[in-house]
Amino acid sequence: MWKKFFGRGKDNADVAEAAVEAGRVPRHVAIIMDGNGRWAKAKGLMRTAGHREGVGTLKKILRKAKDMGIEVLTVYAFSTENWKRPAAEVDFLMALFSEYLQKEVRNMYEENVCIKFIGKTNELSPALQKEIAAAQELTKDNDGILFNVAANYGGRDEICRAARQIARAVQKGELTANEIDEAVFENYLDTAGVPPVDLVIRTSGDLRLSNFLLWQAAYAEFYFTDTNWPDFSPEEFAAAINNFAARDRRFGGL
Ligand code: IPE
Ligand code: IPE
Ligand code: MG
Repeated sequence: MWKKFFGRGKDNADVAEAAVEAGRVPRHVAIIMDGNGRWAKAKGLMRTAGHREGVGTLKKILRKAKDMGIEVLTVYAFSTENWKRPAAEVDFLMALFSEYLQKEVRNMYEENVCIKFIGKTNELSPALQKEIAAAQELTKDNDGILFNVAANYGGRDEICRAARQIARAVQKGELTANEIDEAVFENYLDTAGVPPVDLVIRTSGDLRLSNFLLWQAAYAEFYFTDTNWPDFSPEEFAAAINNFAARDRRFGGL
């Protein structure tokens, strides 16, 4: 019985191993990496220091996710609402994304990570768009893990963009209105072909989705933790996976 592995006070790494052994690892995990600013504030640092520290966390969690056999990791890096922040912070984040790609893409390639950006990437700077395209092209045949980075992403925006494309297909006569069902609709989302989100993790204590993966998380489980993203460890990630593995998902059935 897989349940016997869990909640026995073993250290988290062992428990996660058990989740892996039990075949109860989520296929698709999505993370709302929140709390960089609060982490920095608590240390008397600039908010930007929190974002920088958060990149370090992301590297570790990506590796852990891959080691655990998670197929897809989707992380929320910048929302369509985050443009409301002071320009200096937005600029810093954009520069950080560039720096991250420049430093990490080679490693990702070597570690068999396939990186893909979701969201309205066409509104990012041309330079960043080029780096994104190059990163996606370099890693496109990797199959160790699919690593989706949501940048200028909003769930509502994604659904609107899909609806627009579907309307165009109908206008052109490629599709009829009656043919639009959930499976067809999904093909027009940024995550076309990707399994639905099994587990959403949000760090830093807020209990909301903030416009993340509205369609894909329709039946997701949620894991909320007070830990700020820069302090979120592979051990706590494994604990979240363990927690997920012990849940009973009914999908409306009995
Ligand atoms: C998450 O941390 C990172 C982004 C939204 C880019 P925050 O910057 O939202 O940190 P808090 O929520 O202000 O602590
Ligand atoms: C969600 O965090 C977006 C990202 C983590 C990129 P926010 O900090 O922007 O969310 P709200 O404003 O608290 O809802
Ligand atoms: Mg926040």
